[in-house]
Amino acid sequence: MKKVLVTGGAGFIGSHVVDGYLQQGWKVVVVDNLSSGKKENLNEKAKFYQMDITDKRLNKIFAEERFNLVNHHAAQIDVRVSVKKPVFDAEVNILGTLNLLNNCVKHGVNNFIFISSGGVVYGEPTDLPVDEHYPKNPLSPYGVSKHTIEHYLHYYRKTYGLNYLSLRYANVYGARQDPYGEAGVIAIFTQQMLRGKRPKIFGDGEQLRDYIHVSEVVNVHLLASQKIESLNERKPSSPDDLAYNVGTGKGSSVNLLYQLLAEIIGFKVQPIYAPERKGEIRRIFLNTDKAKKELDWQPQLNLREGLGKTVGWFRENL
Ligand SMILES: NC(=O)c1ccc[n+]([C@@H]2O[C@H](COP(=O)([O-])OP(=O)(O)OC[C@H]3O[C@@H](n4cnc5c(N)ncnc54)[C@H](O)[C@@H]3O)[C@@H](O)[C@H]2O)c1
Repeated sequence: MKKVLVTGGAGFIGSHVVDGYLQQGWKVVVVDNLSSGKKENLNEKAKFYQMDITDKRLNKIFAEERFNLVNHHAAQIDVRVSVKKPVFDAEVNILGTLNLLNNCVKHGVNNFIFISSGGVVYGEPTDLPVDEHYPKNPLSPYGVSKHTIEHYLHYYRKTYGLNYLSLRYANVYGARQDPYGEAGVIAIFTQQMLRGKRPKIFGDGEQLRDYIHVSEVVNVHLLASQKIESLNERKPSSPDDLAYNVGTGKGSSVNLLYQLLAEIIGFKVQPIYAPERKGEIRRIFLNTDKAKKELDWQPQLNLREGLGKTVGWFRENL
């Protein structure tokens, strides 16, 4: 039986990925410092270490557990925090990841799946949907840290033979997403509408994003975990070669999300429009042909179906 370390496995997306691995018969170990993750998200069949990814004691966990694969979800995920505290962002997202990579090399772990962000590494693209080879011009320290790790991965692969895949997520939504944070507009609107509160839209609501349901993300990980070794045999020439956009290929406006959620929930009140936030990307959605072709992955749900599932979960769990 294969064993995977999922960092950030008590968080929104990581916890679903843990569930997916367990269903496929993997042994799963989670490392999470519970800074935003929650104990109730943790699958009880996974072994849990409450630890920071920057902690030197990670060495001991690697020595004892002998992983076949590391799936790295733990991160400082907030763009605004990264702007206010770029050093903290780099400590977690760059130095914490290097701590994991060095432990992989030291303890003979051959495979590493990294979670990058298709929403931030490209900056404000002009050609849409944006593909993996589009120039990377991140506009925040968070985006810089995600892109930086892709270069380190390329280096670790060349130098130490560490196989990797980098999954550049679009905007992921679904059960367990934090409705209190700054991001996660679907979780925020859903929670507010269910509680009868009037949601706020920043700007005109016509900004476009690519929204992908978390169940599709789990599927891409299970496929990526099977294919990581064969895809790494192809001798990549740049970090983009082993990077995959994970999205729907479609841009949806915040106004459309509002309308669909209001219909599903039966919420009759109009949104409050507030001034747009500075530095926000106007339009981004991802070309996912590469993941379809090379990972045999294809999203199954349309936006309305994904939103319906999400509302169902929030109704039961609020
Ligand atoms: N949610 C999205 O739409 C989205 C989009 C692109 C990329 N991502 C990436 O996906 C990953 C998961 O994000 P999420 O939305 O599930 O967020 P989340 O906050 O729910 O999950 C992050 C998890 O990492 C843990 N963590 C944070 N810092 C840590 C540290 N120093 N040591 C150990 N654990 C730590 C948190 O406690 C949490 O459980 C992140 O790498 C994020 O950058 C998310």
